[in-house]
Amino acid sequence: MTNYKEQLLKKIANKEAIVGIVGLGYVGLPLAEAFCEAGLRVIGMDISEEKVAMLRSGKSYVEDVPSNVIARLVSSGKLRATTQYADLAEADAICICVPTPLQKNRDPDISYAQQAGQGVAPFARGKLISLESTIYPGGTEASLFPYLLKNLTVGEDLFVAFSPERIDPGRTDYTVRTTPKVVGGATPNCLEVSMALYGTIVDNPVPVSSLEAAELVKLLENIFRMINIGLVNEMALMCNRLGVNVWEVIDAAATKPYGFMKFTPGPGIGGHCIPIDPHYLSWTMRGLDYTPRFIELATDINTHMPEHVVTKVADALNEDAKALNGSNILILGIAYKPGISDVRESPALHIIDLLREKKANVSYHDPYAASLQVDDDVLTSATLDAKTVAAADCVVIVTNHKEYDWAFVGKHARVVVDTRNAMKAVTDARVIGI
Ligand SMILES: NC(=O)c1ccc[n+]([C@@H]2O[C@H](COP(=O)([O-])OP(=O)(O)OC[C@H]3O[C@@H](n4cnc5c(N)ncnc54)[C@H](O)[C@@H]3O)[C@@H](O)[C@H]2O)c1
Repeated sequence: MTNYKEQLLKKIANKEAIVGIVGLGYVGLPLAEAFCEAGLRVIGMDISEEKVAMLRSGKSYVEDVPSNVIARLVSSGKLRATTQYADLAEADAICICVPTPLQKNRDPDISYAQQAGQGVAPFARGKLISLESTIYPGGTEASLFPYLLKNLTVGEDLFVAFSPERIDPGRTDYTVRTTPKVVGGATPNCLEVSMALYGTIVDNPVPVSSLEAAELVKLLENIFRMINIGLVNEMALMCNRLGVNVWEVIDAAATKPYGFMKFTPGPGIGGHCIPIDPHYLSWTMRGLDYTPRFIELATDINTHMPEHVVTKVADALNEDAKALNGSNILILGIAYKPGISDVRESPALHIIDLLREKKANVSYHDPYAASLQVDDDVLTSATLDAKTVAAADCVVIVTNHKEYDWAFVGKHARVVVDTRNAMKAVTDARVIGI
C-alpha cells in the first residue's frame, strides 16, 4: 500500500512538491508568489481567462505582487497559469483560494469552494487539499468532503486542511513569511502534511487540533475587528452629540501602554472580509438557535455609518443654504481602504447610492480605481485639480489614500466632510468630522 503521507513529506522537504493554487485573486496570487520564492513550482488555476492571460504575459493585477516578479516567475517556469482544473493533476498539494461571499439573503455562498472541490476531486488521491477561503465552522467538510471522499479515506489516501489566509492587502510591515499562519487538519496526518507544506513559506505555522478550530480562528479575528470598529463608530456618534472630538479621545486613550488597542471610526466597513465573515458565524449559530448579539449590534452600527456621513454632508450644505438635490459632491477615495483598488463592499458605494437617491450629482476621484459601475452608469475617476475641487459644493473624504495632498484639498474645497481625520493637520480649511 502506498504511503502517501511519507511521499508528500519527502517531496515537500526536498522542495520537489508542486503546489496548485485554485483562485488567483488577492489571496491566491501572493500565495503563489510565496511558494515560488520558497523554491517550489506552482500551477495557478483560475476560471478567469483574463487573469490567466495577464499572468501568462507577465502582468500582475494585484497591487502587492509586482508585474516584474510575475514576469520572472512565469518566464523561469516556476509559475504556470491555467484555466483548466485538469492541469492541477500533477500538483502534490492544492490550496483553494476562491471567493466565499454571501448570497442575496446573506446566507453563506460556498458554491465556489464546492466547484473547486468538484474540480480537483478526480485527481485528489495522494494529495493535500487545503482550503484557505474563509468559511463557517464545519464549512471545509461541507464544501469539500462530498466530492473528495467519494472513494478515498481522509488522512490515508488524501489529506485535507484548513488554513485561513491572513493577508492584509497593501500592508508592507508583515509579509507572508513573517505572518504566523494557523493550520488545522482533518486528521493528525493531515495536520502533519499541511504543517510541513506551510512551513516552506511561513516562519511560524500555528497548528490547531481540528478544521473547525482553524475555521473559527479566522472568524474570531475578523469579528474582533468588526466589533471594535463598531465600538469606535458608536463612540464617534456619541462624541458628535456631546460636541467632543472623537479622534482626540481615541488618540489620548491609545497612549495607555496596555489594555487598549486603537481602532478608528470611519464611514463604515468594507472589503471582502470584515463585513461578510461575521455573517458566516451568525448563520451557523442561527441553525443552533443562538443569536450572536455582539455581531448583530456591531453590524447595525457599522452599516448605518454611510447614512450618518450623508447627514453630515446635508448639514454642511444646509449651512450654505443648499440642498443635496442638485448639489455637486466629490468623493475622495472609493476603495474600502487606502493603498488598494478593491471597492468590494466599500462604504463609498453605499454613500454614493444614498447621495444619488437624494438627487445629488456625485463624482469621485480615486488614484487606484479608474472607473466604477453605479446602477446603469459608469463613473470615471475625476482629474483632481483645483478646478474640480473648487467646483464641488462639498468634498467627502471616504478613503485616505496616501497620494492625497490634504493641504491642496483644503485650500480649494468649499467644505470638506472628513470621515478619516485626514485633514487633522490642515488648519485653514472648512472641515466637518464625523
Ligand atoms: N482579500 C483579502 O484581503 C482576504 C484576506 C483573507 C481571507 N480572504 C478570503 O480568501 C478568499 C479569496 O478572497 P480573494 O480576496 O482572494 O478573492 P478574489 O475575488 O480576489 O479572488 C478569487 C479568485 O478565484 C477565482 N475563482 C472563482 N471561482 C473559481 C473556481 N471555481 N475555480 C477557480 N478559480 C475560481 C476568481 O476568478 C478570482 O480570481 C475569500 O474566502 C476571502 O474571504 C481574503
